[in-house]
Amino acid sequence: MAKDKLKGLILSGGKGERLRPFTYSGAKQLVPIANKPVLFYAIEDLVGCGITDIGIVVGDTRAHVEEAVDDGNRFGARVTYIQQEAPLGIAHAVKIAADFLAGHPFVLYLGDNLVLGGVAPFVERFRSDSSNCQILLRRVDTPQSFGVAELVDGRVARVVEKPRQPPSDLAVIGVYIFDQHVFEAVQQLRPSARGELEITDTIQYLIDKGLSVQAQELDRYWMDTGKMGDILEANAVVLDALPARREGSIDSASRVRGKVILEHGVQVTNSVLEGPLIIGEESRIVDSQIGPRTSIYHHCQVEGSRIANSVVMEHTLIERVSYRIEDSLIGRYVELRGEGGAEERRCVLTLGDHSQITAA
Ligand code: G1P
Repeated sequence: MAKDKLKGLILSGGKGERLRPFTYSGAKQLVPIANKPVLFYAIEDLVGCGITDIGIVVGDTRAHVEEAVDDGNRFGARVTYIQQEAPLGIAHAVKIAADFLAGHPFVLYLGDNLVLGGVAPFVERFRSDSSNCQILLRRVDTPQSFGVAELVDGRVARVVEKPRQPPSDLAVIGVYIFDQHVFEAVQQLRPSARGELEITDTIQYLIDKGLSVQAQELDRYWMDTGKMGDILEANAVVLDALPARREGSIDSASRVRGKVILEHGVQVTNSVLEGPLIIGEESRIVDSQIGPRTSIYHHCQVEGSRIANSVVMEHTLIERVSYRIEDSLIGRYVELRGEGGAEERRCVLTLGDHSQITAA
């Protein structure tokens, strides 16, 4: 099958255990980074590479993902949902997507991976060379948490999943390209010690068969957003890369420093905003200090409070909290009511959707 007929396969299932409590009530791929669900970055990246026929593998959180993405039309894509009955591994997801992929080469994108600036050069290279598989590598401090590649004379000799003693510091990131040979590989796999069909074993199968597995080292920011601290870091990095934009309104008693994005319908009153930060549609900020490195999603209300280096999800109310809220991840429809005042102390919050806290 011609290499210009690439399809896309995005994984948006899994339990997201490292992102509890948010994953009790939503998909980890829908956690917003700079006010956009992580999953949307993957879809937009594929569409930007000219890949519009996209399969999304979903699990228990299918309804949330479908509600957010719908048929893909607004991204300029055509989305097909593929149900994975249990999180049995990345290679298992490829296996059950075989009918959708129909022998086409495809980009496999883990829906919780974020590549700043996207993967277009990598896709272009695959289109123009004769490789059967391409992987992307990034040097990391903790290779034992990832799939790891060992290169010999620039060629991929071995890939291992989360090795105790990593052969290198080159993590295999969650964006891969395969041609039709992968379907034979996933048929032959056996579950790993963690009970999954591993994508690293799939790649190793291709190497052992003598097929061409190319690796490129990624020189841009990449994050697997599966952990709490990673979300805040990714949020800060993405905010930093976005241009300022002011669609909402801000009164004359408010002050703005740095790069600030106010989306449509935002109202800021008597507040201090310190960029980089984003405030989402129809949110209201009154008598507050927001930022830096903070994302407040749509339809939130923040009054008489201070928030820095945090992500606040949609429809949340934060009112008269005396502590400085820092390094926090606050879910949807949360109600957080304090007693007012301004203490020097700070609080670090991880609050799942619909949490309620009232100082009494
Ligand atoms: C998965 C892959 C691993 C890869 C990582 C990238 O790990 O199994 O090889 O390095 O994604 O994000 P998981 O997130 O399932 O632990």
